[in-house]
Amino acid sequence: MKRFLLTIALMLSLGASYLGAAEKEIDSKTGLIIAPGFEEVKTTCTVCHSAKFITAQRGDRQTWLSIIRWMQDTQGLWEFSPKLEDTILDYLSKNYSPEEETGRANLNSSDMPPNPYEK
Ligand code: HEC
Repeated sequence: MKRFLLTIALMLSLGASYLGAAEKEIDSKTGLIIAPGFEEVKTTCTVCHSAKFITAQRGDRQTWLSIIRWMQDTQGLWEFSPKLEDTILDYLSKNYSPEEETGRANLNSSDMPPNPYEK
């Protein structure tokens, strides 16, 4: 019985990681990737503007921090507790990093103009 349950657990976790690799789960309401920190980001970052500001942006941790500091300095964004700020920065730098593909990168080459620099 124990063996059987272990097998089921293994299959479930393999299945979950396979699905995770195949495609990310997207929240239909905000368009944000559902991952650790999603709830905090949804609650904190969609008060003043749409989450499209986030999904259209890529940045490493430092870039995201400077965007937050800019909003705090000029756009009336309040200060976060260090713990909340850390959670938000983890989420943003993991899910919206420069390495993540953008829509542009997903275009087929047949949908793009010819590269004028190609030899
Ligand atoms: C207090 C209101 C407020 C909150 C809360 C807020 N923002 Fe903003 N944010 C703004 C304003 C205002 C702008 C500028 C809008 C414009 O340019 O029209 C902006 C712009 C942005 C931009 C675009 C920056 C650019 O370079 O164009 C991003 C990205 C962004 N916010 C992310 C976030 C994230 C992530 C959070 C949560 C940590 C957040 N915002 C929470 C007010 C807010």
